[in-house]
Amino acid sequence: MELVRLGGSELKVTPIAYGSWQLSPRFWGKQPEKTFIEAMQRAFEVGVNFYDTADAYGDGYSEKVMGMALKELPRDKIVVATKVYNRFYEDGRRHGDLSYDYIIEECDASLARLQMDYVDLYQCHSFDHSTPMEETAEAMQRLMKEGKIRAFGMSNFTVEQMRLARKCGNFTTLQPLYNLLERDGERDLLPYCRAEDIGTLVYSPLAKGLLTGKYTGDEKFEDLRGRREMFQGERFRELAGRVQGLKPIAQKYGLSIPQLVLAVTIQHPLIDVAIVGIKNTEQIEEAAGAMGKEISREDYHNVRGALSGA
Ligand SMILES: NC(=O)c1ccc[n+]([C@@H]2O[C@H](COP(=O)([O-])OP(=O)(O)OC[C@H]3O[C@@H](n4cnc5c(N)ncnc54)[C@H](OP(=O)(O)O)[C@@H]3O)[C@@H](O)[C@H]2O)c1
Repeated sequence: MELVRLGGSELKVTPIAYGSWQLSPRFWGKQPEKTFIEAMQRAFEVGVNFYDTADAYGDGYSEKVMGMALKELPRDKIVVATKVYNRFYEDGRRHGDLSYDYIIEECDASLARLQMDYVDLYQCHSFDHSTPMEETAEAMQRLMKEGKIRAFGMSNFTVEQMRLARKCGNFTTLQPLYNLLERDGERDLLPYCRAEDIGTLVYSPLAKGLLTGKYTGDEKFEDLRGRREMFQGERFRELAGRVQGLKPIAQKYGLSIPQLVLAVTIQHPLIDVAIVGIKNTEQIEEAAGAMGKEISREDYHNVRGALSGA
């Protein structure tokens, strides 16, 4: 598999990454740990080298499970990304914190949970209006110097916030929301990143499962999806129907619907990586099958058209 270099960093990754937010019980409910460990290890066997987590996913739980899984893999052959921002407390409270001291302290905590000496990519999970960006950048530079991180990046930043961050330090990646049903990032965020050589890792590329074609629109959810407008009422039924419309195009390429959606997503010239939320080995095998597939320009637009209801 051809690897993609992430912006101005030296990181080389596969265009599909393993996303592990699903190990956050408050959003996704309780999950079977062993199944996740198997899926993370299977990811490497099916050619995925890039893993995404965050300190806040399950308040350290996702990093801990990832640490258990990845210690069996060759460290120099995988690229691990985590995040900092949500300062969490035992009583469940959280607030943003990208202050110098917290970043230095929390990076050590993440490394301990991941059982690693360094993480490849350390991302600011969100913009912190209560900390001067110079201070955040200084902490990141120190971690680079100490060899605890190989690169640092941003997530959920606006263009103006990225502009400010880049004035203060060498932030080399952005992790924004993007999927074929939610394409706002195409307007400003993604073009800005390409112009500035910022690597783009999009999250929720399957619209939290809606773009897999497994729903009719009548399902009810106990997890976070139960609170999302996309998964409710007439809107849910309509979107689920549009996704079904992708079947003939998927069949033409011998792909499943999720594979077609992911192939089109990573074929977008402004997108480097799609981070897919994975719960088991079957899901990562399917996602990995989207790599290296070429969709014709006509079908690329047919897919986008079908999903926009055009
Ligand atoms: N930076 C941020 O603020 C941020 C925010 C959100 C996510 N992320 C990152 O991005 C990753 C992905 O985002 P996401 O979890 O929101 O959404 P996603 O990748 O769009 O959807 C994940 C869901 O899709 C379903 N799925 C995955 N593969 C499937 C397959 N082959 N067949 C059927 N269903 C499949 C699973 O649903 P079921 O539960 O139905 O099995 C899974 O929970 C996260 O894990 C996290 O690493 C980052």
